[in-house]
Amino acid sequence: MKELIDKLYKQNILRKDELCALLDNLTAKSAPYLFEKARSVTNRNFGNRIYVRGLIEFTNYCKNDCFYCGIRKSNRNAKRYRLTKEEILSCCENGYSLGFRTFVLQGGEDPFYTDDKIADLVFSIKKAYPDCAVTLSIGEKSEESYRRFREAGADRYLLRHETANPEHYGKLHPPELSLANRMRCLEQLKGLGYQTGTGFMVDSPYQTTENLAEDLLFIKRFDPQMVGIGPFVPHHDTPFADFPAGKLERTLHLISILRLMLPNALLPATTALGTIHPEGREKGILAGANVVMPNLSPVGVRKKYELYDNKICTGEEAAECRFCLQNRMRKIGYEIVVDRGDYRPAKMND
Ligand code: 5AD
Ligand code: FES
Repeated sequence: MKELIDKLYKQNILRKDELCALLDNLTAKSAPYLFEKARSVTNRNFGNRIYVRGLIEFTNYCKNDCFYCGIRKSNRNAKRYRLTKEEILSCCENGYSLGFRTFVLQGGEDPFYTDDKIADLVFSIKKAYPDCAVTLSIGEKSEESYRRFREAGADRYLLRHETANPEHYGKLHPPELSLANRMRCLEQLKGLGYQTGTGFMVDSPYQTTENLAEDLLFIKRFDPQMVGIGPFVPHHDTPFADFPAGKLERTLHLISILRLMLPNALLPATTALGTIHPEGREKGILAGANVVMPNLSPVGVRKKYELYDNKICTGEEAAECRFCLQNRMRKIGYEIVVDRGDYRPAKMND
């Protein structure tokens, strides 16, 4: 294992068979060396500074029917909501005073929010908070739509590819969704100058080690500015209700491998990771992640944005995720900073 880890550290890439060997053979004994290497790269590039993004879950209506997702359109039990423009702006106001300089507007693919409405939202946020970055996470759109949002001021876009293998993609999604279209979106987003994030679920149903190696190699080639990964967590009202949740260790291994492959990428320790283990996000940071995304949605809707069961940060006590995470990060020697946290490409000789 040590040779493979050292090779990955030096070359920032491995062959597919080597990635599979690494993923399949890491143990409680060998993984700490990987975590340490990844952490050393993060510390070299970011020090002990952790970037925050304020997550605003503004609609849980969705026209799609992904088999894993709790807000899929077939879920009649989901209590649907939409935030008004005023509610969204007041989340930003609250967030700004809490030190957030990035707002992530995330939602289902909700046709109610026309391009006009999204562009107006982005424009209004950027006008009120010109020193903040706006990230969109609203799914697959036409290139024209992406261009409009960009012109309205959107800086970044999150769109996980979910799996880089077309057959596996087909097992996670109904036939009207395709990996080819997802890839089309990602290429266009990058081409339009968005700082682009992609990613996948760890241990999603039918996922093989080889699929994960394919995900890693796709990400290396695509070279996104951000990569979000978290364990699959079953939702009781979906076709995948009875599949087991993803493994903490495997998720941590993958965070470290991603850090060694993309030394400058922005890698969040995700809410899903915090959901499967009480210190999941802390462990994610210690495995090489450098971003956290506290929930800024109004407390009253948080439970309704239920992509998976037992999602954390939804209770009344979670009114200020920002402070909760600040304490959590301090305990492990890291500081949340007041900063947009833009991507910075590698310097020569890095
Ligand atoms: N478990 C974990 N992650 C999920 N997502 C959706 N449903 C689940 C689930 N059941 C992730 C997807 C999506 C992101 C917004 O949330 O990867 O891209
Ligand atoms: Fe949300 Fe701790 S981060 S409650």
